[in-house]
Amino acid sequence: MSSIRPENMERITTPELAEKFIEEQVAEIKAQVGDKKVLLALSGGVDSSVVAAILIKAIGKQLVCVHVNHGLMRKNESENVIEVFRNQLDANLIYVDATDRFLDLLAGVSEPERKRKIIGKEFIEVFADEARKLEGVEFLAQGTIYPDILESIKAAEGKKAVKSHHNVGGLPEDLNFELVEPIKLLFKDEVRVVGEALGLPHGMVYRQPFPGPGLGVRCLGAITRDRLAALREADAILREEFANNGLAEKVWQYFIVVPDIKSVGVKDESRYEGWPAIIRAVNTKDAMSATIEEIPYAVLHKVTDRITHEVEGINRVLYDLTPKPIGTIEWE
Ligand code: XMP
Repeated sequence: MSSIRPENMERITTPELAEKFIEEQVAEIKAQVGDKKVLLALSGGVDSSVVAAILIKAIGKQLVCVHVNHGLMRKNESENVIEVFRNQLDANLIYVDATDRFLDLLAGVSEPERKRKIIGKEFIEVFADEARKLEGVEFLAQGTIYPDILESIKAAEGKKAVKSHHNVGGLPEDLNFELVEPIKLLFKDEVRVVGEALGLPHGMVYRQPFPGPGLGVRCLGAITRDRLAALREADAILREEFANNGLAEKVWQYFIVVPDIKSVGVKDESRYEGWPAIIRAVNTKDAMSATIEEIPYAVLHKVTDRITHEVEGINRVLYDLTPKPIGTIEWE
């Protein structure tokens, strides 16, 4: 398959077209891979999940999925990947809890781009360590989608990026795999239609985008385990309340940011210093610019009440009203 989408390629908008696409890919993968093993870094995002499900259909246990928990996942996210892929789809899944490796390396590092680089580099190392333990792997599957290809073309033309969004570089030279990229000509909406046709859970297929460095770029400045834990709990409450109030699929991206500052509060008639939790909820088409979702006050009150009562260490909740530009979507 070439890396350029033919102009006359039909958009995948229906389950029937998705089925046809899946069948074609299954046949192509079988022909490409034969009886060899394929390795895949499975984050649980829609792209890698769809690639995993297509490959499971094509080659079953010849696919080896590696899920690296970098300790910066959202609440229950790794557990969910294990539940869907290992328990429901019977995938060959290796789960690596690398939390300590990542958090130890990130300790004291406050500069956002350095945090990103450390996370990206360590991710490669953890993944490569797992790959070296395996025998008979000749292929690497990737959840590359068409916008990634377009972005690389732009990058090659020398356009300057505001942030280094590319999460992972190439693998070390001793790991020389042939690539399998079944969704590289698809746009995101098409990937979702294919994901539904594959029977993946709706919540996984329509999951909001989540950056590769995860909560690492939302726990601002130098990450500490206690502030990261507070961020994770507060974020889970925000997501739960968005789901309860019909906002989960209406709003493009929504999350909590916890900066490294404390303010004075009062709890049980005593001074209570805590971090603020900042709500970010934006709508966009392509993440290049974004507008603010007008969250109903009742939802804001509920979220504030729950976070300040349920999350240890947080004593205020703020709502960020800044569009992109001038702000970026993430704070780092
Ligand atoms: P910004 O903050 O640049 O974000 O307005 C635009 C979109 O990109 C996501 N984002 C990232 N995604 N690795 C990623 O995979 C990153 O380092 C990264 N930084 C930002 C962000 O969540 C938003 O959807």
